[in-house]
Amino acid sequence: MTDTAPLHSPAAERNRGPILIELQRLLPPHGLALEIAAGTGQHAAHFAAGLPGWEWLPTDADARCLESIAAWCAGLPNVRPARRVDVLSRPWPGVPAQVDAVYCANMLHISPRQAGAALLEESAARLAPHGLLLLYGPYFVAGEPAAPGNLAFDADLRRRDPAWGVRQLADVQALADAAGLALRARIAMPANNLLLVFARAAQAATAVPAPSAAASAPASGPNA
Ligand SMILES: C[S@@+](CC[C@H](N)C(=O)[O-])C[C@H]1O[C@@H](n2cnc3c(N)ncnc32)[C@H](O)[C@@H]1O
Repeated sequence: MTDTAPLHSPAAERNRGPILIELQRLLPPHGLALEIAAGTGQHAAHFAAGLPGWEWLPTDADARCLESIAAWCAGLPNVRPARRVDVLSRPWPGVPAQVDAVYCANMLHISPRQAGAALLEESAARLAPHGLLLLYGPYFVAGEPAAPGNLAFDADLRRRDPAWGVRQLADVQALADAAGLALRARIAMPANNLLLVFARAAQAATAVPAPSAAASAPASGPNA
């Protein structure tokens, strides 16, 4: 990240379209979404524009991101002012007690495992009974061959910080289980990423529509 607003992520520009298609399919017409680790704000701006019945509350731990988010989301009436939220500082400040969705992309691999645990636990505490937690990013799946790009990405992350790394889906599911959330859908996304959809374990499992054609596009390009 630089300190010049607005920040720009080429990856976010590439993946925001396929992710929005899935959000439009998965989410009901109206609701309040809390975005964790919103980064540049490109996702918030694109999703708020594409989901006009939703209010979007973007957050990030890095104060430099907040200006960038504001710049990307300027003029969008359904985006609330960005707030500084570090998932490890709980309870999360300035966040409504109940939200209809929590969305978080590309944070779990670039933060320690405790950040993932905090995200799952705090999301479970704030999700409405019908709410969804949506996690986007690269994951390793036991019994499935890892994409070479994800292996190289994982090695690079661990070189940068031993506490970082591409997470095992089973590990994320274990954190979710402990928090009372259950994996309802695992959607293959371009460039070897997954969109994971969690709901309260106590909620009856509801049918999730089949992935869109865009989501099953062949994997290519860099991670995230
Ligand atoms: C790779 S960027 C992803 C940004 C955006 N979600 C995207 O996909 O383009 C990772 C983001 O996670 C944020 N982050 C890292 N640790 C965090 C924490 N403990 N709490 C909240 N955000 C965190 C960083 O500030 C950064 O903006």
